Amino acid sequence: MTSSSTSADPQSRLDALDWPFHTERLTVRRSTIEDLDSLWKYRGLPEVSRWTSWHPADQEDWRRYQGDPARMARTLVFEYEGSIAGDLMLMIQDGWAQREAADLAHGTQAELGWALDPALGGKGLATEAVRELIRIAFDELGLRRVTAGAFADNERSTRVMERVGMRREAYNIKESFHRDLGWLDGIEYALLAEEWRTRA
Ligand SMILES: CC(C)(COP(=O)(O)OP(=O)(O)OC[C@H]1O[C@@H](n2cnc3c(N)ncnc32)[C@H](O)[C@@H]1OP(=O)(O)O)[C@@H](O)C(=O)NCCC(=O)NCCS
Repeated sequence: MTSSSTSADPQSRLDALDWPFHTERLTVRRSTIEDLDSLWKYRGLPEVSRWTSWHPADQEDWRRYQGDPARMARTLVFEYEGSIAGDLMLMIQDGWAQREAADLAHGTQAELGWALDPALGGKGLATEAVRELIRIAFDELGLRRVTAGAFADNERSTRVMERVGMRREAYNIKESFHRDLGWLDGIEYALLAEEWRTRA
């Protein structure tokens, strides 16, 4: 359940962070319009869009959709050896709350997402990037909960969620429509800041 926003756009809190952030192998930064052509090189591949929410018809479609300011505001990229290796979504949302307490749940959680250039798969780069994404959500933004969803058959993404310590909260039977495969099962994962801190 999600409640409606009651005050300023919480996504703008990303503007105040001290970008970029670094991990052992990666640099994580905000995405810019100049990234769109680099992202297209793997985002335009059918193997990448198979499990994502859309397949761009062509590069122009990609530029129009991904270049939307609201989408750019929630997109990060991670660089490996000086080039973009993948992208991340950090979309700040309201937690569900009763109307009288909605302000207390405003902008307290984030939905996460990720995609990796398949040429760089199997090295743990996506896992490393998502770990940093979670750290940013909890340590830098002070959020209390992160979530991620996927088609249940997206096993590689599920393994990323489990490797970073996210917890499966829901398995929904035939609730998501796939453009080629019809109605499929969906999964939802989440992690609380307190769980993450305990494990860390
Ligand atoms: C989901 C996706 C990012 C996963 O990519 P990936 O290459 O499997 O993930 P990683 O980069 O974290 O690599 C993990 C693999 O590298 C291996 N690996 C090698 N070195 C590693 C290291 N240092 N640390 C962690 N894993 C390592 C792991 O064992 C793992 O392999 P396994 O799953 O066969 O056991 C990628 O498949 C993708 O972009 N898919 C398309 C978009 C998509 O589905 N997005 C999610 C929508 S919900």
